[in-house]
Amino acid sequence: MKLGVNIDHIATIRQARGTIYPNIVQATKLAEKAGADSITLHLREDRRHMQDQDLFDIKPVIQTKMNLEMAATEEMLRIALKLLPEDVCIVPERREERTTEGGLDLVSHFDQIANISDELHQQGIQVSLFIAPDFKMIDLASKMKVPVIELHTGAYADSNSQDERDDYLLKLKQAAEYAKKLGIQVNAGHGLNYDNIFPILDIKEITELNIGHAIVSEALFIGWDAAIRKMKMIIQNKK
Ligand code: PXP
Repeated sequence: MKLGVNIDHIATIRQARGTIYPNIVQATKLAEKAGADSITLHLREDRRHMQDQDLFDIKPVIQTKMNLEMAATEEMLRIALKLLPEDVCIVPERREERTTEGGLDLVSHFDQIANISDELHQQGIQVSLFIAPDFKMIDLASKMKVPVIELHTGAYADSNSQDERDDYLLKLKQAAEYAKKLGIQVNAGHGLNYDNIFPILDIKEITELNIGHAIVSEALFIGWDAAIRKMKMIIQNKK
């Protein structure tokens, strides 16, 4: 299983004070050195963390691959086509949310997402759709012919009881198996941390995990390099 390191919250700290530090180019280089298999970032409509220029500053230094998370809008499409990241993960976005709170609604927004996905695909960008572990969404992703889905692990991470957690875990496992059978690569992420990651590592159909907040938080105490190595070690030891 691979580790995509989400660096949004390095920019969150910078934006809190309008400084030029912490430097996200440095964070990117160090993340790769510490073992990140890809660098993930989300350019939100409200630009609360990553700024447009950040994307273009980071792109040339990335040696693994850049995974841009974006909403399915014309504005983001324009930026992605200029930036040409290796991967784009299309995510839902609501201005008032604290973070990406749910998966894409592929029923209501099928045509809009399919069109954006096609345009990205034509430029050689690998498209992924961030969806809940729901068979209907997987069928629609398959109909759209996207090569990758990212399963939203937020409900699993936020569950309040062991029963609820087991239930969400089973949903993730079944969804991963189903998508894999349809020939879709399965990634996962959101809310994963150094404790709750372990059962997820048993889902062998998952190719890549995208993790941000927990790593940035841990970095406050042990450093950015060590926090990434620690997560990478957990993932590798569970192969
Ligand atoms: N994957 C996707 C699609 C996301 O939107 C996010 C949050 O930006 C993550 C993974 C990482 O979530 P977290 O910061 O909770 O690890």
